[in-house]
Amino acid sequence: MSKIKTKFICRECGYESPKWLGRCMGCNQWNTMEEELVQSKRDFKRSPTMTSNNRPQKIKKVVSGGHERYDTDINELNRVLGGGLVKGSLTLISGEPGIGKSTLILQASSKIAEKYGTVLYVSGEESEEQIKMRAERLDALAEELYILSETNIDLIEKYIDELEPVFLLVDSVQTLYKDDLTSAPGSVSQVKECVNNLMRIGKSKDIPIFIVAHVTKQGELAGPRVLEHMVDTVLHFEGERTQEFRILRALKNRFGTTSEIGVFEMREEGLVQVSNPSAIFLDSLSEKAEGSIVVSTVEGTRPLLVEIQALVTPTTAGFPRRTAVGIDLNRLNLIIAVLEKKIGLPLMNQDIYINVVGGLKLEGTSSDLGVAMAIFSSMQSIPLSSREILAIGEISLTGDLRPVSYMERMIKEAHKMGFKTCIMPDKNIPKIKKDVGLEIKGVRRLRDALELIMK
Ligand SMILES: Nc1ncnc2c1ncn2[C@@H]1O[C@H](COP(=O)(O)OP(=O)(O)OP(=O)(O)O)[C@@H](O)[C@H]1O
Ligand SMILES: [Mg+2]
Repeated sequence: MSKIKTKFICRECGYESPKWLGRCMGCNQWNTMEEELVQSKRDFKRSPTMTSNNRPQKIKKVVSGGHERYDTDINELNRVLGGGLVKGSLTLISGEPGIGKSTLILQASSKIAEKYGTVLYVSGEESEEQIKMRAERLDALAEELYILSETNIDLIEKYIDELEPVFLLVDSVQTLYKDDLTSAPGSVSQVKECVNNLMRIGKSKDIPIFIVAHVTKQGELAGPRVLEHMVDTVLHFEGERTQEFRILRALKNRFGTTSEIGVFEMREEGLVQVSNPSAIFLDSLSEKAEGSIVVSTVEGTRPLLVEIQALVTPTTAGFPRRTAVGIDLNRLNLIIAVLEKKIGLPLMNQDIYINVVGGLKLEGTSSDLGVAMAIFSSMQSIPLSSREILAIGEISLTGDLRPVSYMERMIKEAHKMGFKTCIMPDKNIPKIKKDVGLEIKGVRRLRDALELIMK
């Protein structure tokens, strides 16, 4: 069999070269040359959309089947997928080494095998015995779950034809290879070609496929960027490896929102769903502490309560340090600027550290007020009753507070978790029902909120 030809293309400017170059001759960028397959006519024919006799048709006449979905029996996973696993969809799961990708997909595969029949789990990273050992620990020994330790994509395809599974899992795409290509598994052309093959199999047979993908040192998906465009859904599994919480997030989803998160706890018996994350995030909250306050944010449809901690200490080096774990550093700098200019807090020779407890990354602006109050509390050594009071609100550059959306949902959650008082922008109050169960303190400016805690 003749080996397929490859060429190297610059991912920035498209410069082509028959050999790999460290620096692109076209745009002088370093490390941008990626190997690509030289496609022959025969290769083009393999694309399923080009072989069928598709004709232009009126959009109103197209029959939309809706998306038929499998229930994975793991609610947190269903939620992130947008309500279950869509048939024929291609999903990438990425995450740091050891975070629990194989565990998650093994648990999902066993549940689906129990419910819907044959599932094929292909692993290029582990032997059958290793997988069996994990499956025993996780109690994921479904009758119809098949395991295959193989990395050759053509052989895998043969077994798929043979078994006709309802669900296919591949761990990981970086270990797959196609015989026709000379490059090593994990290289750009191998990864692209193998995912292309899987996509063709999935779409033509209507099999949903999960593919595990490695991440680079910077935490980005390893492999060509185009991979993310090819697949329907990109899931990212994250968390602090030293803590047991794991958060599953959709970075892209063609069948649902990307704002839903799934929360899991890593235990001996595998990943356990956390249906009430607020309770876990607030587990270690102390009664009264300096620089600690609870804020709320809405992830998808679910309100979450999390503790924010601030530590303000005098700067010893010439330049003050600002460290933010779990919130955006730019946002922190903005809040510090408002505290200095509008409140007159002398922060220019203070180091400021912010930490969101539990490893969650907060997006949005509803935690601004909490961050400012935590900094103020730490700076002035005023302890806050963190189990009773929470603060929700966005800070504007004028020092005023701006209303935030989904306030009612967040207060309901706070009430459920036993909070007594909520400090919030007064502009939010008209939209809130009278009997929410906890005392609402509406404030117009940041200054008013800080005066409240000084009392
Ligand atoms: N006996 C055990 N008890 C508790 N937790 C365990 C046990 N064995 C493994 N784990 C957890 O499972 C994690 C490994 O999970 P898994 O193999 O699914 O990760 P992965 O993301 O697939 O890693 P890789 O990138 O190496 O394939 C470990 O880091 C550890 O947290
Ligand atoms: Mg693994």
